[in-house]
Parts: sequence; C-alpha cells; structure tokens
Amino acid sequence: MTNSTSDAIFARRSVRAYTAQKVDDETVGLLARTALAAPSGMNAQPVNVIVVRNRALIEEAEKAVIAFFVKTGESAVVDRIKSRNNKIFYDAPVCFFLAVKNHADADVGIAAENISIAATGLGLGSIILGLPRVIFNDPETAAYWKGKLGFPDGCEFGLAVAAGYAADTGKPHDIDLKKISFID
Ligand SMILES: Cc1cc2nc3c(=O)[nH]c(=O)nc-3n(C[C@H](O)[C@H](O)[C@H](O)COP(=O)(O)O)c2cc1C
Repeated sequence: MTNSTSDAIFARRSVRAYTAQKVDDETVGLLARTALAAPSGMNAQPVNVIVVRNRALIEEAEKAVIAFFVKTGESAVVDRIKSRNNKIFYDAPVCFFLAVKNHADADVGIAAENISIAATGLGLGSIILGLPRVIFNDPETAAYWKGKLGFPDGCEFGLAVAAGYAADTGKPHDIDLKKISFID
C-alpha cells in the first residue's frame, strides 16, 4: 500500500548537488508554508522561516562555517567538508533558515522535514542542514548573522533546509525493518 505522501517520504534523500535552475516563487512560497503547517508542542508555533536566495549571502555563510571548523581544529569535520568540495549549502538556489524560539528542537526538526518531503513531492531535491549552527555559537557572530538574516527577537538558529533541482543520482538510505516491533 502506498500513496503520494508515503511515496514522497520514501523517495526523499539528502541532495548534495544542484543544477543552476531557479525554483519559482510559487513553489518557494509553498515550501515555506509547509514549515508553518508543522505540528508544534502546545501549538506554540515557535518556528520562523527565512527564505534566502541571495547567493553572496549564502556563500559568505558557507565560508564562515568552514572557517569555524578550521579555527577550532575539528579535522574530522574539515575533512568531511573537503570531501564535499568545501560546500555547506551545496550551491542550492534556495535555503530556508529556520529560526526557533525556546530551543524547540523537536518542532524545528518537524518543520524542516515538512519542507523536505514537500520538496520531494514537487520534484525537487533538498537537504536538512545542521552545520550552519556554528556561525551562531559565538555571541558576536550570532548577532551578526541574526542581523543579516533578520531573525525575529528571541529566535535562535534551528536548522536550515537547502532545496533546488537535484544534479546527482543518489538514492534514499536503506532502512532496517528490524527496528520496528509490535506489541498487540
Ligand atoms: C538534523 C539534521 C542535520 C543535518 N545536517 C547536515 C549537514 O549539515 N550537512 C549535510 O551534508 N547533511 C546533513 N544532514 C543530512 C544527513 O547526513 C542525512 O539525512 C543522512 O545521512 C541520511 O541520508 P538521507 O537524508 O539521504 O536519507 C542532516 C540531517 C539532519 C536530520
């Protein structure tokens, strides 16, 4: 048994290469709204969506993320980033920054997944990104980036989701059905 929603869930995968094709405004707006439609604890709706299509800004953030890991000497992460062509946002034409109140990590994760699944359903690739968090670690750089991105007061970085048309041929990860158990 399948339906279009479960098909999109099983087809979703993290896309780390994008074509230069732009995503039209209507689609971008729809994806942003899917984040706001996510459930949240006590219906607090703590997530704000900041849609970034400004390449220069995304590239500046990318450089800042990499510089953080180089500076802190986290060589495993630096090597992993190198193996991904020094990309953090993978040249995606649009990035959704999810700014969240009250450290509502579960809520922000659900919002991010809504965007990713909807993107898959619309024929787009996407990837949920946690690494950009590091540019919000230090109060000074956090203030800079919150200002640049226009975070509402009281919001912290939650996650980012990059999206666009996939330029790779990856596959969804294998799932281990032994992780499901039933108690009837
Ligand atoms: C909360 C979260 C943060 C993630 N952060 C990153 C990231 O910063 N960079 C990246 O390349 N992938 C990131 N990923 C993608 C995971 O690596 C990916 O989901 C995982 O390898 C499984 O692959 P799949 O999404 O293709 O099924 C993140 C995923 C999640 C859920």
